Amino acid sequence: MADRGIVEELERLRKEVSFHDYRYHALDHPLISDAEYDRLMSSLREMEAEHPELVTPDSPTQRVGAGPVEGFDEVRHVRPMLSLANAFEYQELEAWHNRVTQLLEGAGFQMVCELKIDGLAVSLTYENGSLVRGATRGDGFRGEDVTANLRTVRSIPLGLQGRPPRVLEVRGEVYMPAESFRRLNEERQGRGEPLYANPRNTCAGSVRQLDPRITASRNLEIFVYSLGHTENGGSRSMPDNHWDSLLALQELGFRTNPHNVVCTDLEQVEDLYRSWLERRHDLPYAADGIVVKVNPFAFQDVLGYVGREPRWAIAYKFPAERAVTRLLGIGINVGRTGSLNPFAMLEPVNVGGATVKMATLHNEEDIRRKDIREGDWVVVERAGEVIPQIVEPVLERRTGEEREFSMPDRCPVCAAPVVKLEDEAMHRCPNVSCPAQFFELLKHFVSKGAMDIDGLGERWCRILIDQGLVADVAGLYSLKAEQLLELERMGEKLASRVLENLERSKERPLSRVIYALGIFHVGSEMADLLAQRYVSLDQLAEATLEDLTSIPGIGPKIAESIVEYFTVERNLEVMRKLREAGVRLFRETADGGAQGEADLPLNGLSFVLTGTLSSLSRSQAESRVKELGGATSPNVTRKTSYLVVGQDPGSKLASAQRLGTELLDEDAFLKLLGLKPLGLKLLGEPAQRAP
Ligand code: IVH
Repeated sequence: MADRGIVEELERLRKEVSFHDYRYHALDHPLISDAEYDRLMSSLREMEAEHPELVTPDSPTQRVGAGPVEGFDEVRHVRPMLSLANAFEYQELEAWHNRVTQLLEGAGFQMVCELKIDGLAVSLTYENGSLVRGATRGDGFRGEDVTANLRTVRSIPLGLQGRPPRVLEVRGEVYMPAESFRRLNEERQGRGEPLYANPRNTCAGSVRQLDPRITASRNLEIFVYSLGHTENGGSRSMPDNHWDSLLALQELGFRTNPHNVVCTDLEQVEDLYRSWLERRHDLPYAADGIVVKVNPFAFQDVLGYVGREPRWAIAYKFPAERAVTRLLGIGINVGRTGSLNPFAMLEPVNVGGATVKMATLHNEEDIRRKDIREGDWVVVERAGEVIPQIVEPVLERRTGEEREFSMPDRCPVCAAPVVKLEDEAMHRCPNVSCPAQFFELLKHFVSKGAMDIDGLGERWCRILIDQGLVADVAGLYSLKAEQLLELERMGEKLASRVLENLERSKERPLSRVIYALGIFHVGSEMADLLAQRYVSLDQLAEATLEDLTSIPGIGPKIAESIVEYFTVERNLEVMRKLREAGVRLFRETADGGAQGEADLPLNGLSFVLTGTLSSLSRSQAESRVKELGGATSPNVTRKTSYLVVGQDPGSKLASAQRLGTELLDEDAFLKLLGLKPLGLKLLGEPAQRAP
């Protein structure tokens, strides 16, 4: 392809991907499947890899750019980012409406009502349609430049649709969807790490990460809720009211909230508020009220500001889900990895419609920092689906009878002396056979993301342990029908379902088995990574600290924990028993047999791919090569064993020809991968060599 052609093709691909981003994020109406989208994205990635000099900052591939930064620069907002006055009751809303009506001399006006998203306010600036700056609100006048982090938020367009003004600033709320928060905490629990308190703080922390790759992993989203500063208005005339500006923002590619509505009177506003009050927990994100905004900009100008709050808008807040109650005592729960987790036992109290009896307390340091004492009156908060938290003690109500808390010296379940590592906030029971730990481990082992043994819920785990039927996770596989049938409330149907599911679980992929073992710091993503690198559990068990830390994404802490796990005799014993029971402890391979790394078919071979393959995506091909012991790399060097040449190969082909690297076409490559090719020919040879 001529250079001009490549430039144009890249431009076309970028536009196409951006357009589909817009359909998906801004309009919530995709035109192509995820797979088609991925294909487009890989074509773009591939072309850019071949022409790195042609990569533009607004390319959809450039969300995660350079590595960590030292700190954030300060950004002055061209127009201050204001806050909102609050109304907590209808009377306050009515008073606001009366005042506005009076100032507008009785003129009628429409109001735009929006959900008040509980996240972090940000400002995004675009120049000539490209995102140039993303900033936090800060004190309203000066915020922090978090551009690199905000670029990783998929619903923030890097380039705009249509014809935007030369300079366009918009404002919106970045938030962490409830599901992302839940998954993040699940992952943390899997690694035995302390849980995050709520989506809002976690979102704020994620936006202020020094390493954009961490922000990228947090799956944040945005709703844009207002137009900020603009210069040189673009092709169309600027909207003269808030509602039209939201529509215009959506057309430019921004994600606006689909629940935004126009109300003509207060009764409608109140109805809307009441209906959200009931349904707000059904939203996939946290909202703490509705925002009511006077629609015409001309009226907004007349109304102006009082201090830092506009008179033309008000936040009608949902009642805070907080209550005051008595902290009866602090209990300790022993986690799967032996962590001692303090929790608050509370005098039952109604918080936002639910009765709360318990709250999390994180760790001893947290209790000290908040100065929470047993017997205190405490403020309890419930944020959405999140576990209730203790905000603070009510110091005014202290009598002097309260007791300061300290962690026990011995595990409350098995009485083993507790250990506390210096760099960890947590106390830990070191006894791997502690019954409390084992219960948590067993629950984890049978859970959906692990061995997925349907039918064995928490209650049955408890019973199996209490009845002495299982003493370690491998013990599950020795369970007999007769033993199960003796248990109260275990019928034949359930017993045979459990046994069937146990049988089926023996074929789970290696990554699930690794995850199921419950190794400290090894969540499901880490387990995936390990299963890609090691062909079997035995191989993983033999890995040294150096081996492990040489894998990108594995630091010394994780490596140590893995090595340590396989030095414990009891754990090795469990591994042996699992193997004897017939649980597959190695990676599934082409012929289904177990293989050590040395006899993997592509061991020692290195592959480079160019062009598009018709039967496999780039990433499928790469992971297949790795599975079979081979390596892939982006560039052809003297060490490259094969260049795999797909449709429309790039400049790598020329490099390979120069270096004399052996070329493989798609069919030959598939054959090597143990996949059925459609026909086989080696490049440069006659096409007739049938498979
Ligand atoms: S309008 C001058 N609309 O609430 C008007 N704010 O207390 C500025 N927020 O800092 C804000 N959802 O972070 C507006 N639909 C929405 C909002 C919203 C959430 C936040 C925003 C702002 C705070 C004001």
